[in-house]
Amino acid sequence: MDKVTAHTGTDAASGLTGADPLFDLTGKVVLVTGGSRGLGRAMVRAFAARGAHVVIASRKLEACQALAKEIAAAHGGEAFPVSCNVNDWSRCDELADVVYERFGRVDVLVNNAGSSPTFPSLDAVTEELYDKVLALNLKGPFRLMARIGTAMAAADGGSIINISSLASVRPSPILVPYAAAKAGLNALTEGFARVLAPKVRVNAILAGPFATDVFAGWDPETFNAVMAEPLALKRAGRPEEIVGAALYFASAASSFCTGSLLRVDGGAP
Ligand SMILES: NC(=O)c1ccc[n+]([C@@H]2O[C@H](COP(=O)([O-])OP(=O)(O)OC[C@H]3O[C@@H](n4cnc5c(N)ncnc54)[C@H](OP(=O)(O)O)[C@@H]3O)[C@@H](O)[C@H]2O)c1
Repeated sequence: MDKVTAHTGTDAASGLTGADPLFDLTGKVVLVTGGSRGLGRAMVRAFAARGAHVVIASRKLEACQALAKEIAAAHGGEAFPVSCNVNDWSRCDELADVVYERFGRVDVLVNNAGSSPTFPSLDAVTEELYDKVLALNLKGPFRLMARIGTAMAAADGGSIINISSLASVRPSPILVPYAAAKAGLNALTEGFARVLAPKVRVNAILAGPFATDVFAGWDPETFNAVMAEPLALKRAGRPEEIVGAALYFASAASSFCTGSLLRVDGGAP
């Protein structure tokens, strides 16, 4: 694989530059699940702006391809779109295989794909919905960490970032199964941090409400009343506001940090 050289890219969305060696990702291979939209897309753009080769994985290949095209036009690194349903153990294995086949390594894995389907009441949660929520938010990240984290530890090391949720520590009634899955993801973060040390660092970002497709159907008034009102900052996060924490964990800036659970939530009580 060609190495990307001298990189000083700017990410227009975040205004951050790649010139600082602490946050530089030149030539690194970064895999982002759920990279096509929302927080994933903001992170993909930021990693690419700092010189990384990015693997953009989600179920809809066309969406990944469209973002890869944008990235390739704007930055020097490679952008590789892959279709993958993270709910499925064997699809996670296929994703790992195809990325190692293409790049020979992964330096940063971001387990970002996730969602929180709504339901009218807890007794209306079906076994199918429950299994789906656990598969997407917990099982898939486990398998990817087991496969890719182990390979990282056997090679040059790396960094794993799990996108968890404020719900994992503040489980609101409308998010109970999802909150349990994300609490499990926090536990996986601390467990894998121990197992994969010292070469691989594993950390989690506990996101509060961010204005992404997750809330696409909500009118702003309802959103602020229900989700943002209790927050000290009284507003939802913008997708690019996840970038600072993601760059921190991805790069040398966080070299003494593993097993951490960092809240990026606008000041939740
Ligand atoms: N937004 C928030 O307020 C918030 C709060 C706390 C935590 N989080 C967490 O942050 C992460 C990103 O959320 P977001 O708000 O950016 O979500 P989003 O805008 O809905 O984007 C979700 C991304 O995940 C992909 N995806 C969904 N199901 C998938 C599956 N089964 N396999 C592979 N990819 C899948 C989607 O693409 P496809 O449809 O093409 O698959 C998309 O790229 C999630 O883990 C979420 O739980 C978000």
